[in-house]
Amino acid sequence: MYNIVFIGPPGGGKGTQADMVCKFLNIPHISTGDIFRAMIKEGKSELADMIRGYMSRGELVPDEAVVDVLFDRISKDDCQNGYLLDGFPRSLNQAKVLDAKLASAPLTHVILIDVDENQLIKRLTGRRTAVNSGKIYNIHFNPPKVEGKCDVSGEDLIIRDDDKIETVTNRLKVYKDQTVAAVNYYKEKGVLTVIKGEKNIDEVFADIKEVLKS
Ligand code: AP5
Ligand code: MG
Repeated sequence: MYNIVFIGPPGGGKGTQADMVCKFLNIPHISTGDIFRAMIKEGKSELADMIRGYMSRGELVPDEAVVDVLFDRISKDDCQNGYLLDGFPRSLNQAKVLDAKLASAPLTHVILIDVDENQLIKRLTGRRTAVNSGKIYNIHFNPPKVEGKCDVSGEDLIIRDDDKIETVTNRLKVYKDQTVAAVNYYKEKGVLTVIKGEKNIDEVFADIKEVLKS
């Protein structure tokens, strides 16, 4: 049974690796960011409007909203044999609330994908996303076969609203100010494994598979 958390700075490769790991282990990939983007795309609701505001500024969505959405998702049938959380928790409070919730089936792996800040900025500003297939590309490091189109679905690739440089800078600050505290919490508990995320995508995947053997 795998109850995995991927934590780390924006642009570190959590989504890219989560997609590969979840196919490999046949478990659901639960990204709070993806859930929020889907809620915003679905249409107008007070909650979606509130979330859009926080995301567009690169701030964390308030815990009450995130925790409800996340707990609702992990209570679904497809999560009963494990799951991978990508982007949750990202504050000390979220980490503690998650631990309390999972008392009877705790996390099996907490993996930090660590990447230097200059590289993160290049990755985020070069990212292109396929909304429907969920595939993630990069104009510098992982381009699609046909420029601007998804290899899998053929749909047009988009630039995420929060990948413009002003928002990227704020997301990196928020990571340091709020998410590093959750990283330290797992470090102190002795459950954190740090993966060097600056290798190429396949090498990082191989390193993560090694960690998952234990
Ligand atoms: P979220 O969608 O989770 O964004 P994030 O954490 O900022 O992370 P990213 O998705 O930007 O990066 P990633 O690590 O997934 O990297 P990726 O694989 O795409 O959250 C967005 C927002 O939602 C937050 O700002 C917040 O407002 C809100 N939110 C979400 N969860 C929340 C929570 N728990 N609490 C409160 N608010 C929450 O890769 C990046 C790029 O690099 C891609 O172009 C990729 O192709 C490339 N790349 C990947 N790996 C490599 C490699 N090894 N070498 C070269 N390039 C690579
Ligand atoms: Mg992501």
